[in-house]
Amino acid sequence: MKLDVSSERHSSVPERVTLYGKVFERYIEQSVIADAIGRMAAAIERDYAGREVVMLVVLKGAMMFAADLARALQLSLQLEFVRASSYGAAMTSSGTVTLDGSLEFVRNRHVLVIEDIADSGSTIRAICDHLREFAPASIAVATLLSKPAVHRGTIQLDYVGIEIEPVFVVGYGLDYNELGRNLADIYRLAEEG
Ligand code: IMP
Ligand code: MG
Repeated sequence: MKLDVSSERHSSVPERVTLYGKVFERYIEQSVIADAIGRMAAAIERDYAGREVVMLVVLKGAMMFAADLARALQLSLQLEFVRASSYGAAMTSSGTVTLDGSLEFVRNRHVLVIEDIADSGSTIRAICDHLREFAPASIAVATLLSKPAVHRGTIQLDYVGIEIEPVFVVGYGLDYNELGRNLADIYRLAEEG
C-alpha cells in the first residue's frame, strides 16, 4: 500500500462526538497538545540533564501522552507502568484509588510520574504516597491536563501541560466509561439544551 502523505485525512476531524448518548464538543486540538508536550519535554530535559529517569506511566489514561512525551525526550529513559482506577463509569472521582503491583524497581531511581489529568488529585496523591514506600531518589509529577479549580493546588505537580476548566473531557487517552480514548483531539462534555 502506498503511504498517503497528504493532510486530507485530518481535515475531517469531528467537531462533536457522542458517547453513550452524551455529546462532547472539540475543546483542545492536536496541535495545542503537541505544543504543550514540546514545552514540557524542554523543561524535563533541562531538569534531568545527565540523569537516568524512570517514567512511571499511569494506565490507562496517560498512554497517549506518555508515548508522545517519551519520544520527545532526549534522555536515558526507563518506561514502567502502573494501573490506577478511580472513576468507574462516573464523571466525578470516586475518591478511592486502586493501585496494583510492587514498585520495587524505583528504589534509588529518579521517578517521573506521568498522568493524563489532575482532577481531585487523589490519584496523584495515592501514587506519590505509595512510591515513597519504595524509597526512590526523587519523585516528580508530569500531567498533561490539570483542573486547578478542583484540586486547588493541594498536590505535587512539577510539569503541567494545559490548565483546563472543571469540565469532563475525553480523548487523547482519556475516556468516558472506556470509550473515547482513541480520539486524537480532546473533547469536553457539551452543555445541555
Ligand atoms: P483524580 O484522582 O480525581 O485527580 O482523577 C484522576 C483520574 O481520573 C485521572 O487519571 C483520569 O483517569 C480520571 N479523570 C479525571 N478527570 C477526568 C476527565 O475529565 N475525563 C476523563 N477522566 C478523568
Ligand atoms: Mg488516569
